[in-house]
Parts: sequence; C-alpha cells; structure tokens
Amino acid sequence: MKSMTRVVLVTGASRGIGAATARAFAAAGASVVLVARDEQRLDAVRKEIAAAGGAAIAFPADVSEVAATEAMVGRAIAEFGRLDVAVNAAAAHGSRPRPLAETPPEEFEQALAVTVRGTYLSMRNEIPAMITAGGGVIVNVASTAGLRSISGLAGYVAAKRALIGLTEVAALDYAADGVRVNAIAPGPIHTEQLERAGAAAREHVRRTVPVHRLGTVDEVAATIRWMCGEDAAFVTGSTLVIDGGLLAGTPTFA
Ligand SMILES: NC(=O)c1ccc[n+]([C@@H]2O[C@H](COP(=O)([O-])OP(=O)(O)OC[C@H]3O[C@@H](n4cnc5c(N)ncnc54)[C@H](O)[C@@H]3O)[C@@H](O)[C@H]2O)c1
Repeated sequence: MKSMTRVVLVTGASRGIGAATARAFAAAGASVVLVARDEQRLDAVRKEIAAAGGAAIAFPADVSEVAATEAMVGRAIAEFGRLDVAVNAAAAHGSRPRPLAETPPEEFEQALAVTVRGTYLSMRNEIPAMITAGGGVIVNVASTAGLRSISGLAGYVAAKRALIGLTEVAALDYAADGVRVNAIAPGPIHTEQLERAGAAAREHVRRTVPVHRLGTVDEVAATIRWMCGEDAAFVTGSTLVIDGGLLAGTPTFA
C-alpha cells in the first residue's frame, strides 16, 4: 500500500463525470491534474477543488495531439513528482444523432480522434510514468453504447467499442508491470447534455432504465475510485457496467 499522496490525472475534467471524478479524488486527499480543452471551465473546477482544500492544477490540452499528451504527463510529474492514477474521460460526441449516411465524415473522425486516438496517446504517456512510480491504475470511460449499439451514433458507438478493445490490450501489455487498466461503461447519467436535452427527453431515457432513474456523476466517480483502489487490486482488463440494469435485459415488471 502506497503511503504517499496519490497523483491523479483526469482528462475531460472540465465537466460532468470527469469533473466529479477529479473532485472525488481531491476530496480523498489526492493531488489532481485536470485536463480538457476548455480553459475557463477547467479553471473553474480547479478553483472549486482549491476552495474545498484540495490540490489541483489545470492543464488545457487536446488529447488527440501527440505533443499535448506528452506535455500533460510531463506537467503532472513536474508539479507533483509522479503519476499513480489516470482517468481518461475525454470524448467527443456529434452535435445530434443522425443516420450513418448523414453523419459528416468530420464528426465521425472527431469521435475516433478524441476517444480512440486520444486515449491511446494518453495511455502511451501515462503508462511509462506509472511504471517509473512503481505501478499504477488507469480507468478509461467507455459507455454502454460501446457494448450495445444506439442508432444514430455511428462515430460514438464505433469509438466506445474500440476503446474497450484498447483497454484490454493495454491491460494485457502491462499486467506484469503493476499497471492495471480497466474501463467503465456508464448508462444514462444526469449530465449537462441530458439537462440541455430537456425534461421530456430525460423522462424518455429514464423509462428505459430498469431502476427508473438516471445515474449521477458522483455514483460514477465513486465506482472509478473503487476501481483505482487496493480493494480492486485483482481487477484488470475488465469493463464495468454502471447502468441501473439497462444492459441486463428487458424488465417484465414495471
Ligand atoms: N453523460 C452520460 O450519460 C455518459 C454515459 C456514458 C458514457 N459517458 C462518457 O463519460 C465521459 C464524460 O461524459 P460527460 O457527459 O460527463 O461529459 P462530456 O462528454 O460533456 O465532456 C467531455 C469532456 O471531454 C473534454 N474533451 C472533449 N474533447 C477533448 C479533447 N480533444 N481533448 C481534451 N479534452 C476533450 C471536454 O472538454 C469535457 O471535459 C465521456 O467519455 C462520455 O462519452 C457519458
């Protein structure tokens, strides 16, 4: 068991699940590196963590860029001396669901660029730093959409499914080096996107979930923290579904 303060890097930390995860780790005493493209929102999360007595720095970066992913891990080490945990939550989803033939190539490519290439590049830099630190843990944020497809989301579904494969390969490649790599697959979580979609859309989604509610970002963050802790020491290469029963099947009794 490591006794020193853990250093945690979170991509996609400017909002939603990423921000909640960063807050949860900081509240538990970790030093946190916040990464996303939106500088202002990233800094707002940093200030919030600092106001609560936590240690965090903001590092605006585009994870689909080689140099940016090298620099983000470099910054973590320069600031906090090591890297123990990484949560790769950055993702791009298109502006709206649309049939495959109507999906602009740029939108499809962007989904793959951020989720697949971005997570590959992030792990490519995170893993060597973790090996230097004596081991580490990575959680990649996939989606139930990576396990059961959703129409109108060609890029998102393809990217999340690829991310699960990428997670498994990384877990196998570094299992003997003390680096655990897992994915989580959240179902519908109450985030800004669903907030913006409006009450009718949320109600429609809520009805599809066997427990009849949306998940919260704090529930996802708590699961990620568990995955990164000693209690999950034997868990690697897995994808944990957090979906209120959505993928289990079709409920008979409402
Ligand atoms: N919200 C849900 O219901 C839900 C369900 C399943 C999976 N997820 C996944 O959880 C993660 C977080 O989703 P969310 O809804 O909380 O937030 P979100 O999807 O609204 O935010 C994504 C984050 O990624 C960042 N980002 C986007 N492109 C980037 C890039 N090129 N480089 C660096 N950062 C970039 C954004 O700035 C933001 O911080 C995503 O991977 C998403 O696919 C969300």
